[in-house]
Amino acid sequence: MPAPLIEMRGISKSFGAVMANEAVDLSVAQGEILGLLGENGAGKTTLMNVLFGAYAPDAGEILVQGRPVTINSSADALAAGIGMVHQHFHLAPRLSVLENLLIGIPGKSGRIDRAGGLTRLAEIGRQHGLTLDPDLPVSALSIGEQQRLEIVKALFRGARLLILDEPTAVLAPTEVDGLFSALRSMAAQGLGIIFISHKLNEVRALTHRCVVLRHGRVTGRVDAPASTTSSEMARLMCGHEIVPPARGPSTPGAAVLTLDAISTSRHSGMALRDVSLSVRAGEILGIAGVSGNGQRALAEVISGVRAPDAGRMTIAGKSVSRFSPREVQALGLGRIPEDRM
Ligand SMILES: Nc1ncnc2c1ncn2[C@@H]1O[C@H](COP(=O)(O)OP(=O)(O)O)[C@@H](O)[C@H]1O
Ligand SMILES: [Mg+2]
Repeated sequence: MPAPLIEMRGISKSFGAVMANEAVDLSVAQGEILGLLGENGAGKTTLMNVLFGAYAPDAGEILVQGRPVTINSSADALAAGIGMVHQHFHLAPRLSVLENLLIGIPGKSGRIDRAGGLTRLAEIGRQHGLTLDPDLPVSALSIGEQQRLEIVKALFRGARLLILDEPTAVLAPTEVDGLFSALRSMAAQGLGIIFISHKLNEVRALTHRCVVLRHGRVTGRVDAPASTTSSEMARLMCGHEIVPPARGPSTPGAAVLTLDAISTSRHSGMALRDVSLSVRAGEILGIAGVSGNGQRALAEVISGVRAPDAGRMTIAGKSVSRFSPREVQALGLGRIPEDRM
């Protein structure tokens, strides 16, 4: 049997008292899609950051096709054929698609080879259905297209192993299909892929094998994800069966928060247009949407971080006037932000 494309042996990494990874072993073969599954905080990103050279492990070793390697930086990782698409993209928004691809790649005689770049971009587009307009600035791309560009960038730099950290979190369901067919196509051509997720249906649909992390340790290995039940995988991931919480009855009272025709300008990210909603005492209001479609702006307005350009907001019947975090807190609103650190 040929040596695996990538092998991690006994990797441990702690941050102070937190053991983010403890004696983790995993390997990926050529042509294989490996799922890395675990709840939030299980250590998935840390493990991949070790593989990509962002952190030095406290213990353990990494082998590429059977040879031990030292990976101290993303440049080392790329030289070893490892590419990573992070949860937050690393793109230059004002530069074009092609410019983003060519940054840092010296062409013949040190000049950037634009024609060669265009040819390669078209080739990758044909091979895997990852088409992009080379001249568009990144700021004009949808989130899904930016992700496509990150994948193409890794292929451009010669990645033979591609790591994707929760790539579907930012995609609409229809875009997920496109991503999966591109990943299958890359694997069919011999690339190794590590797909990080905590969504069991995705892991079962896409991956050939998966490794489950919990509290930094491997708690399960699944050799046939497609024929393993979600509840079995959930047990490996959480340590117990998942019982969906029962929804109690609700007899809502008066509105505690109202938004009336709130609009914002496009500032950083998506603008809000004419958003109205209310939350009544005793009820839980869900807001559904794919990341990048205004949730952040909405949270910023509600928590007083950003003032809207138009519209009104009331908390417990009182009109919010200044939109400062101090004002909304004084009116009784608390916020838990999406980033925990
Ligand atoms: N740079 C860091 N500094 C301190 N603690 C960290 C850092 N990165 C991750 N952690 C902690 O390590 C644990 C694993 O985190 P992470 O690898 O991000 O998990 P996952 O990607 O599975 O959600 C968590 O407890 C997290 O808070
Ligand atoms: Mg993570």
